[in-house]
Amino acid sequence: MVQPYKHEPFTDFSIEENAKKQEAALRQVEQELGQDYPLIIGGERIYTEKKITSINPNNKQEVVGTVSKADQELAEKSMNVADETFEWWRKSTAEMRADILFRAAAIVRRRKYEFNAWAIKESGKAWKEADGDVAEGIDFLEYYGRQMLEIAKGGEVNSRPIENNRFTYIPLGVGLVISPWNLLFAIMCGTAVSPMVTGNTVLLKPASNSPVIAYKFMEVLEEAGMPSGVINYIPGSGSEVGDYLVEHPRTRFVSFTGSRDVGVGIHEKAAKIQPGQKWLKRVVAEMGGKDTIVVDSEADLELAAQSIAQSAFDFSGQKCSSGSRAVVHQDVYDQVLERVAEITKGLSIGDTSKENYYMGAVIDQSAYDKIMGYMDVGKEEGRLVVGGDGDDTNGYYVNPTIFADLDPQSRMQQEEIFGPVVGFTKAKDFNEAIDIANNTDYGLTGAVISNNRNHLEIAREDFHVGNLYFNRGCTAAIVGYHPFGGFDMSGTDSKAGGPDYLYNFMQGKTVSEML
Ligand code: NAD
Ligand code: ALA
Repeated sequence: MVQPYKHEPFTDFSIEENAKKQEAALRQVEQELGQDYPLIIGGERIYTEKKITSINPNNKQEVVGTVSKADQELAEKSMNVADETFEWWRKSTAEMRADILFRAAAIVRRRKYEFNAWAIKESGKAWKEADGDVAEGIDFLEYYGRQMLEIAKGGEVNSRPIENNRFTYIPLGVGLVISPWNLLFAIMCGTAVSPMVTGNTVLLKPASNSPVIAYKFMEVLEEAGMPSGVINYIPGSGSEVGDYLVEHPRTRFVSFTGSRDVGVGIHEKAAKIQPGQKWLKRVVAEMGGKDTIVVDSEADLELAAQSIAQSAFDFSGQKCSSGSRAVVHQDVYDQVLERVAEITKGLSIGDTSKENYYMGAVIDQSAYDKIMGYMDVGKEEGRLVVGGDGDDTNGYYVNPTIFADLDPQSRMQQEEIFGPVVGFTKAKDFNEAIDIANNTDYGLTGAVISNNRNHLEIAREDFHVGNLYFNRGCTAAIVGYHPFGGFDMSGTDSKAGGPDYLYNFMQGKTVSEML
């Protein structure tokens, strides 16, 4: 009997013993930096000449590891292995598959500080963010294992006296999983194991900025008893290996998490039926956001300011859920803006692999350049209040930044910047604030800070986002508590960490036997 699901507790780094353990894990991981990692196809380790180099964004001289790079030939090999493996894996029991997830969760939990350290090194995360990322991965393992055991009981259908009817869910086939670098552990882990626990086989293409932690996770799955060929590890270029496998006639589904442009391209390519293809490919695409915090005139303004700062700047604003827009009632606008500016000036930024700073660097040079480009746009479109600068000499550091007095239709308030930048817009009343909040193509997360019950009820109906939060920030969904996914151009609303998520990778089968 498995224990009821509970989410993984977060580590309190203000406790000296915990901080010491994290420091020790960082030093241990430093001893292991710079190693070379192979692809894993059908359990076979394959080294290629072409490599992906993963670096520490906080210190660009530091190589986290080099990873072999799949090409189309190896992508084809991995497809053949996954196709063959599916023939028997699809008949494995749900209990066996769930047990692999439970064991993997236990292994990662035992090595949590080490996994935090890999996440810090490979993505520049602050300790709290890395710990949340690894905890979320553990949650996915625990939650999806339990969900699978429930689904395996079968759906309830009636039978007439002359028949015996059964309704069950069966897996789809070989799936391509493409994961992003920002929740480099949690999303990579959750999107890889959800199709696997439902009986599919998987080709895992992690983001090129974060392939090392994905390799470490593959080792955990193997240790937990995952047979060869079930999840195959094939880092590679999105445009080469990604496109090839999205278009492959044997690909049955694609689970993508990443930017809107790439997601839309995958959606289009997967929709085209290729010669020899026998099915309509399923696409799960979770994409970007332009997420808004609305502040009412009747509200706890300290809570509003803290929520805005935390949602905008945690992990340097590099979450799809980050609150990059604050839409504030005119009566409290100046007060809230002033307080957020004060909080922002107090945030520490530096090399999180050396010290527990609030924020580290952004992921890479192209992210740094893109964000700095928006600083110029912000200065044209609005009023710079705090920040607006950065330094990419040693790492890609961007200071937390606030722009005020932005038009709701401005580029700053419409485009996903994916950095530590929040834009303020004034609303004349609550209804206008909700209209502004809804005026982007996205619909991922949002929050309302208000003490007015009627206004909260209006937002419940009319604020069109997949994850809406009242009187808190708009980030940090917890698996099994806040199923996560967005509307409109934020994606297919697959609701990761929710009770329906695993059905994305299964199909229902009815068998009726006459008696
Ligand atoms: P990205 O789109 O650049 O890359 C995501 C993945 O797609 C990577 O593995 C990349 O190699 C791959 N890829 C790139 N081109 C491809 C192609 N042509 N075919 C197949 N695969 C291809 O995104 P990113 O920079 O890694 O992540 C940041 C983006 O992800 C942001 O827009 C963020 O909002 C979004 N995101 C969304 C969610 C969500 O749940 N909605 C969660 C995390 C991140
Ligand atoms: N699921 C993550 C959050 O809610 C992205 O912040």
